[in-house]
Amino acid sequence: MDLANFIINSGVGGISPLEGEMAGRPEGVGSTELDLLRQKDVGASRAATPSVACRDISPSRGEIARAFAIVAESVIDTAAREALLDRAMGPKRRKKSSEKLRRGRRPSEGLAFVARDASGAVVGTVRLWDVRLGEGGPAALLLGPLAVELGLKSGGIGSALMRHAIAEAARLGHGAILLVGDAPYYGRFGFSADRTGALAMPGPYERHRLLALQLKDGALDGARGTIKAAGRKIKGQAPGFVA
Ligand SMILES: CC(C)(COP(=O)(O)OP(=O)(O)OC[C@H]1O[C@@H](n2cnc3c(N)ncnc32)[C@H](O)[C@@H]1OP(=O)(O)O)[C@@H](O)C(=O)NCCC(=O)NCCS
Repeated sequence: MDLANFIINSGVGGISPLEGEMAGRPEGVGSTELDLLRQKDVGASRAATPSVACRDISPSRGEIARAFAIVAESVIDTAAREALLDRAMGPKRRKKSSEKLRRGRRPSEGLAFVARDASGAVVGTVRLWDVRLGEGGPAALLLGPLAVELGLKSGGIGSALMRHAIAEAARLGHGAILLVGDAPYYGRFGFSADRTGALAMPGPYERHRLLALQLKDGALDGARGTIKAAGRKIKGQAPGFVA
C-alpha cells in the first residue's frame, strides 16, 4: 500500500497538504505501528486535524530506521512534551520572551501538534499561539517552541512539523505566523525578518531573529508595536501554568 492509501485507509486523519512531500518517501507504516498510532491519538480532533505518517528505511539494513506521524497533541502528551522540551532546549527556555506570550494561555485552537515514533512516544512538538500585533492591532500566530528528540535530529521531523503547522494555520484562516528563531532554518519555510522591523517582543530578544510568514497577502501591512498575548486563558491555574 502506498502512503497516500495508507493515510486514507487508516483513519489516522485526512490527507494533509503535505501528502505530496511525504508520499515521495518510502511507503507507509505497517499495521502494528498504525494500531499504536491510533491508540495514542486519544482525544485528538482527527476530523479537523489532518495527520501525516512517514518512515525512513535504512538502505543498508533494509529495515525501518525511523517512523513518525504528526498528530494533534492530546492532553496525555503534556508531560512527555515538557520533558522533551527540557532535553532539547534546557531549563532557560522558560525565560524566553516568547514564554510571556504563552504563559497561562492555551495554544490556538487546533494548532498544537506532536510527532510520534512507531511506539507512540512523543519525539517532536510544535504549537502556535494567538497574539495581537500591537495594541488593538491585527491578530496573528506565534509559533513555538519547535523541538525534536536529540537523537532524531536531521531526520525531517522538524520540517514535517513546520509544514504541517503552517498548512493547518492557513487552512484555519490565519493571516500570519511569527516566531523568534534562526533564519537559516526557518527561511526554508518562507519566514523572514522583512516585515517585522516595526514589531517588538515583550522582553529581550534578538531583533534579527523575529521572523514572520504571511499566509494572506497584506496580513502584516502596517503591523507595528509590541506583540501581545491574545490566547484563551487557562482558568483556575496558577499564572505560570504551562498548557
Ligand atoms: C531545530 C530543530 C527543531 C530541527 O529539527 P530537525 O528534525 O532536526 O530538522 P530537519 O530534519 O527538518 O532539518 C534538519 C536540517 O536543518 C538544519 N538546522 C537545524 N537547526 C538549524 C539552525 N538553527 N540553523 C540552521 N540550520 C539548522 C540542520 O543542519 C539540517 O540541515 P541538512 O538538512 O542540510 O542536514 C531541532 O534541531 C531541535 O529540536 N533543536 C533544539 C531546539 C531548538 O533549537 N528549536 C528551535 C528554536 S528556534
